[in-house]
Amino acid sequence: MDIFEKIVNRMGPLGQYYAQGHGYYLFPKLEGEISNRMIFRGKERLVWSLNNYLGLANHPEVRKADAEAAARYGLAHQMGARMMSGQTEYHEQFEREIADFMGKEAAYLLNYGYQGMVSIIQSLVDRKDVIVYDSEAHACIIDGMQLHFGKRFVYPHNNMQNLEKELQRATKITNQTGGGILVITEGVYGMAGDLGNLREIVKLKKQYNFRLLVDDAHGFGTMGATGQGTGEFLGVQDEIDLCFGTFAKAFAGIGGFIASRKDVITYLMYNLRSQVYAKSLPIAMTIGALKRLEILRNEPQHKEKLWIIVNALQKGLKEQGFNIGKTESPVTPVYFTGGPGEATRITYELREKHNIFCSIVVYPVVPKGIIMLRLIPTAVHTLEDVKETINAFADIKEKLDAGKYTGEGIKAMTA
Ligand SMILES: Cc1ncc(COP(=O)(O)O)c(C=O)c1O
Repeated sequence: MDIFEKIVNRMGPLGQYYAQGHGYYLFPKLEGEISNRMIFRGKERLVWSLNNYLGLANHPEVRKADAEAAARYGLAHQMGARMMSGQTEYHEQFEREIADFMGKEAAYLLNYGYQGMVSIIQSLVDRKDVIVYDSEAHACIIDGMQLHFGKRFVYPHNNMQNLEKELQRATKITNQTGGGILVITEGVYGMAGDLGNLREIVKLKKQYNFRLLVDDAHGFGTMGATGQGTGEFLGVQDEIDLCFGTFAKAFAGIGGFIASRKDVITYLMYNLRSQVYAKSLPIAMTIGALKRLEILRNEPQHKEKLWIIVNALQKGLKEQGFNIGKTESPVTPVYFTGGPGEATRITYELREKHNIFCSIVVYPVVPKGIIMLRLIPTAVHTLEDVKETINAFADIKEKLDAGKYTGEGIKAMTA
């Protein structure tokens, strides 16, 4: 079998939607300044699709810091990996500051969150160790585990009884192998917006010997009194052994970090293959990250505004009878039953009739028969935006209940 023939015929779990959705539902082009209103197919739309939680993408000081740093250093600087020739005072300064912000002894910068997580998992465990992880773990966690040679046990999402059972199984194994146990969960689950059950997980530390790694991509900057994340929000920040955050969401940038005990971070610096064998985060982006951290510390108004919008949106949707699941974070899912046909019709009508742009999530990301529209409120949205959106959703709900969206989906219009 020719590999090219095989792949182009199968297309993969998401690629199956290429013909139906490319350029419209998938790979859409949003143009103009990153904001609450952007251009899609030549028209202004109200956008609920960007993880620009705190509105930092267009914060004037962020833009200025990014531009000045890029003008001064370019994007090549430093050439090389941190270990060989990519180390700078800025990288170290950021690591000191983010560790302090997260309430941990030390931190290490990652040039991408995804690859960083893959390497973190790989470098923490060997064949004697056991990983126990939540069934809804992000793809980067799953990919990291593919590199693990030892056992891994999954527990159904946030099911603490099952987690305990898996910890018992894992303990039996590690008693024999002499290895350890790593539990991995997310802080905020980025699709459904619910939280990892961190309080109950850390309670299990009294009975079982494990280390806890939390991927808080969506919680960092948005959750907790200071924005440390879900650990702070749930009062268990000190019990999290490894805090992972990315700059791709609240920080509106690129890169990420891992924060932990000093000796553990030193180990990771020398063992994270995605960092040891890859070019360092450009100095300009590191300077940009320092500016974002300064704003996170000194301008709480962005997080406050975000939550005003989150609360108004989630309350409004619930009052209209929408099912928004168990979200406790800014991530706002709206669930419908139906297949890709209904999903495309609803999304199309929201975009073309109401000029509202939100993301559509279908199988295999959510179970078959479920449609999820995902809305991401941000500090740059207004209460007027919320009102407009609730009204639009009320309109489509009426039609959905009357069965008006059934039938074939609407094909992508890429012309
Ligand atoms: C939960 C979670 N972890 C990790 C990542 C990857 O981060 P990055 O975009 O920085 O590679 C994402 C998405 O961006 C995410 O949602």
